[in-house]
Amino acid sequence: MTLLRLIGPAVIALLGVAAGLEAAQHEGLRAIRERGYLRVCADPQNLPFSSSNPATPGFEVELARLVAGELGVEARFQWNLTYVRPLRPLRDGACDLFMGLPRDERFTEGNPWLAVSRPYYVMGHAIVARADAGIATLADLSGKRVAIEGAGMGDLYLNDRGIERGIYRTQDKAFAAVVAGEAPAALLWLPVAAWLARGKSEVKIIPIAHQDLEFPIGAGVRRRDRDLAQAVDAAIVRLGETGRSQEILRRYGLIPTPGARRRPDGVILVQAQSPVELGRSLFSTACSRCHGAEGAPGGTGGAIPVLRNYDGGKEKFVRIVQNGRKNTAMAGFKGILTTEETLAIYQYLTALGKQ
Ligand code: HEC
Repeated sequence: MTLLRLIGPAVIALLGVAAGLEAAQHEGLRAIRERGYLRVCADPQNLPFSSSNPATPGFEVELARLVAGELGVEARFQWNLTYVRPLRPLRDGACDLFMGLPRDERFTEGNPWLAVSRPYYVMGHAIVARADAGIATLADLSGKRVAIEGAGMGDLYLNDRGIERGIYRTQDKAFAAVVAGEAPAALLWLPVAAWLARGKSEVKIIPIAHQDLEFPIGAGVRRRDRDLAQAVDAAIVRLGETGRSQEILRRYGLIPTPGARRRPDGVILVQAQSPVELGRSLFSTACSRCHGAEGAPGGTGGAIPVLRNYDGGKEKFVRIVQNGRKNTAMAGFKGILTTEETLAIYQYLTALGKQ
């Protein structure tokens, strides 16, 4: 009895909270549609991601506009410098969407109020090297001092491999060190490397495919805006299917232009119409750089297995692609490609005409 009396008010209070959340959920998307615009928080000076300069908006701004368009509204930007408590305006309701967040359990555990959408690209890393430094692969970095922003994923990666690091405060500064000849190479986020190296013939970019250097990126909304979260997910899938997000990512050097195999790239996780079509697009963004266009012989490195008409069986294929092969360039795609997506690649490769 005592117990019941004690928990009674607590249960009622909980129900009250739940009902309040329920109402807020429905308010989320409806309120946005009624007011006719989606409020997007973004950093005004963070190219290539975002900028308040309409001439160079950045890819996150361009993508946010498309997402808003899919919701039937326009995007209005709320500019906040993101190095101080970047997510606070979203949490406090000053905006509805924040692009460019890692889809990572530890990250969302640290921000339980936050929901991160399906990924629209995978953040990768690239070496930026002086064109005359004789650096073509990661292995060429040993014995050299590599410029790096401190405490990031790349810093840990180099440290784990015993590569000497020159620590800089920002990626821009690490890049500048390469241009100035202070360091033969830097390890940067791929979009940053591609952006900073625009039109600079003295440096070259070498994308590095390794699971320790990759993480999927989605858009953040408040978890309680559940209908908005679902609508954003659906928008991202549609933008992928119609190729409109790839068009933007390609312009910023994040995925290869058709035919260009050694360009900076990232994996695009989209659902295409048929598994074979999906497989084709996943293969060309995630695998062809090493395994050759359409899995034909002659991929980079020569010793790379030919995957066209792969006949090792479904199970083995999925296992290798998900887990990778230890101590080879074949990194695992777990957390990047689902089993379904991996099977789509398998179907695509086995459906190709014999060569
Ligand atoms: C960075 C280069 C690179 C990328 C990107 C890459 N691979 Fe590989 N892959 C390799 C290398 C190197 C091997 C050989 C590893 C070894 O020595 O066993 C390999 C081996 C394989 C094998 C084993 C083939 C066999 O018969 O033994 C499969 C299957 C495979 N890759 C599938 C894929 C798929 C699918 C993708 C894209 C999702 C992909 N790889 C992306 C470099 C790469």
